Amino acid sequence: MDEQINNRKTEHINIVLNDSDVDRHQSDYDSIRLIHRALPQLDLDQIDPSTTFLGKKISFPFLISSMTGGEDALVQRINRNLAIAAEECQVALAVGSQRVMFSNPKAVSSFQLRNLAPTIPICGNIGAVQLNYGFGAKECKEAVEMIGADGLFLHLNPLQEAVQPEGDTNFSNISEKIGTLQKELPFPILVKEVGTGMSPADVSLLYNEGIKYIDVSGRGGTSWSRIESFRGKKNRSLGIAFQDWGLTTAESLRLNSHFSEKINFIAGGGLRSGIELAKSVLLGAKIGSSALPFLKAATESAESVIEVINQFKREFVTTMFLLGAENVEALEKNRNSLML
Ligand SMILES: Cc1cc2nc3c(=O)[nH]c(=O)nc-3n(C[C@H](O)[C@H](O)[C@H](O)COP(=O)(O)O)c2cc1C
Repeated sequence: MDEQINNRKTEHINIVLNDSDVDRHQSDYDSIRLIHRALPQLDLDQIDPSTTFLGKKISFPFLISSMTGGEDALVQRINRNLAIAAEECQVALAVGSQRVMFSNPKAVSSFQLRNLAPTIPICGNIGAVQLNYGFGAKECKEAVEMIGADGLFLHLNPLQEAVQPEGDTNFSNISEKIGTLQKELPFPILVKEVGTGMSPADVSLLYNEGIKYIDVSGRGGTSWSRIESFRGKKNRSLGIAFQDWGLTTAESLRLNSHFSEKINFIAGGGLRSGIELAKSVLLGAKIGSSALPFLKAATESAESVIEVINQFKREFVTTMFLLGAENVEALEKNRNSLML
């Protein structure tokens, strides 16, 4: 079993690195227009893009989203480079699914990044469906404690599991189980999708269970249906049929805007620039997240990851300047910058 999960992770990474169409380039951020200010009435150098996330200050509202972990040297290198860069740039970091570490002790160290990133918010990660396959509070607590994390992402991936040849597809009563966990555990549970978005019905279920952090992780970026389509002839056509299924991140935020005062939304899924990050904040997100744009850089070096983060940050600060927002709070309130 441990070998199967380990191999699957490496297989996923190789598919993502070798198929440029896994990134669907179909987020609808381009259709969202912003109202430019010719008179920002600000000094660009005085703009403060910092914010807080999980009680810690970060340099701008950004999280490197969950990707990987395991025994292989490649995934160990990826996580080290991500951690060094996230600490250097003071952004939040989430590790990939920690399920593997419960069956393979050699995988544990790949998730233990605290020594490399002592000050930033770090989040653990487990598939929520595993709550129907033997995982519970004990495993979730261990996942967080073993890596010194500030919270735990539970990911929702019903499409991926449906297409995956060996998928776990029993999603019955998952929201109730998430709620029970949140009541039992002393740290925040954050819930995320993996690239197909979240409807108001989903957000409402999670809100009623006490969840305060949701990464909507919408359609338009990484397509897990497409990735899984390469992993078995049987599911090839099913994976392609659903490769563009779901709500985009912007659609998810818009449809859930009535929750934006109650839930800390994270805008992930297809987020590819600091301009899109600013649009997400205007649509009600507290921070943005991104995964795939960091994968190749993380196989290279921490410096390559830092370059990608800095590109997002420069674009974000420039957008704030051109909208006349001196800090993130001002940007959040600046909803009339959106051309409706
Ligand atoms: C190589 C790779 C591995 C991933 N592994 C995980 C994972 O283990 N757990 C998880 O919750 N999401 C995982 N994701 C999903 C991302 O966290 C994110 O939700 C999704 O890729 C959409 O963002 P993007 O379009 O910026 O890539 C992975 C994504 C990539 C690219």
